[in-house]
Amino acid sequence: MATIELKNIRKSFGTVDVIKGVDIHIDDGEFAVFVGPSGCGKSTLLRLIAGLESINEGEFLLDGKRMNEIAPDKRGIAMVFQSYALYPHMTVAQNIGFSLDLKKVPKESIRREVDEVAEKLQLSELLGRRPAALSGGQRQRVAIGRAIIKKPSVILFDEPLSNLDASLRVQMRAELQRLHQELSATVIYVTHDQVEAMTMADKIVVLKDGEVAQSAAPIDLYKYPANTFVGTFIGSPRMNLLPATVSRSNGAQVRAHADNGWVLSLPDNLSAADGDRIQIGIRPEHLRLSEQADAIAAEVSVVERLGVETYLTLGQPSEPIIARLDGDISARVGEKVHLGVAESACHLFDDTGSAIQHS
Ligand SMILES: Nc1ncnc2c1ncn2[C@@H]1O[C@H](COP(=O)(O)OP(=O)(O)OP(=O)(O)O)[C@@H](O)[C@H]1O
Ligand SMILES: [Mg+2]
Repeated sequence: MATIELKNIRKSFGTVDVIKGVDIHIDDGEFAVFVGPSGCGKSTLLRLIAGLESINEGEFLLDGKRMNEIAPDKRGIAMVFQSYALYPHMTVAQNIGFSLDLKKVPKESIRREVDEVAEKLQLSELLGRRPAALSGGQRQRVAIGRAIIKKPSVILFDEPLSNLDASLRVQMRAELQRLHQELSATVIYVTHDQVEAMTMADKIVVLKDGEVAQSAAPIDLYKYPANTFVGTFIGSPRMNLLPATVSRSNGAQVRAHADNGWVLSLPDNLSAADGDRIQIGIRPEHLRLSEQADAIAAEVSVVERLGVETYLTLGQPSEPIIARLDGDISARVGEKVHLGVAESACHLFDDTGSAIQHS
């Protein structure tokens, strides 16, 4: 069992506040992914959980037990870093078994445990090699082996795949998911890779400047971002944001007049008054070509053909709108296209960037 509870955690280095009151709950066996811009405090949070840094304020509970003062090696938590730093003079087997060796575990048991871990990670053939004779992916697997041989109840990964090339990342991603199911450990995984976050996570925690911007299942973050930060952070190309004014003339449909000239209809039950300033979030994949009377006309300024899909950049360069359309559309630069977006696909935020609830 390993349920993680962070309660109002704070951490500063000197006078710089880095973690500013973080509350996170992670269930036993859950795969949680931390994302956020560089410097937002992801690695610092992992180091606080591992015990490599001390917590200034707040409580870290593991299965209800306070961990703040517990030494790192007594927490049952293992950490895998981006720079895997294997011992170059030791073989794969010695690297994986090193922590057991330190604990003076009998050689025979070490060998058995190493064999078992190596099999899980497909390293059995490589146990006699030194790190210099391994590929990047194999080295990262050894680093993971070194972590899981301690049978941790929690494994922390800090961007473990970011040194690997694209195809190896896809392969390792699948292997890590399989491993997670096999080990039934609770996992916290830090990544900059959206696809990794969306595909691996049970729960994504989006961090911004040392605070939690939102924490939810991947699909809920995508569908119901709590603010413009999360809306534009999750999804690629990023969500378009159109500053707009609400218009509620008597009896008429509720509309948004965007500053770029677009007019969009809004839900009747929107809790916003006539004249309110709002921001409309439209994901590029929710814009489509339309022949309807109320379609929005926009001039194409850039065409990016990726084969399976085509991105059009529309409107003024100062406030570009991106549309993600079929690969074979015939649009050219300078041409006018007509677009529509379903009312239900518009995300509405107030002028502070918080999502507006529908009443
Ligand atoms: N030991 C330290 N002393 C002073 N400042 C630190 C220390 N460790 C981290 N910081 C600062 O804390 C902030 C958060 O750093 P952290 O490494 O947690 O960010 P991160 O989210 O992991 O970023 P990245 O995505 O670039 O890895 C940064 O501004 C960093 O400079
Ligand atoms: Mg980091």
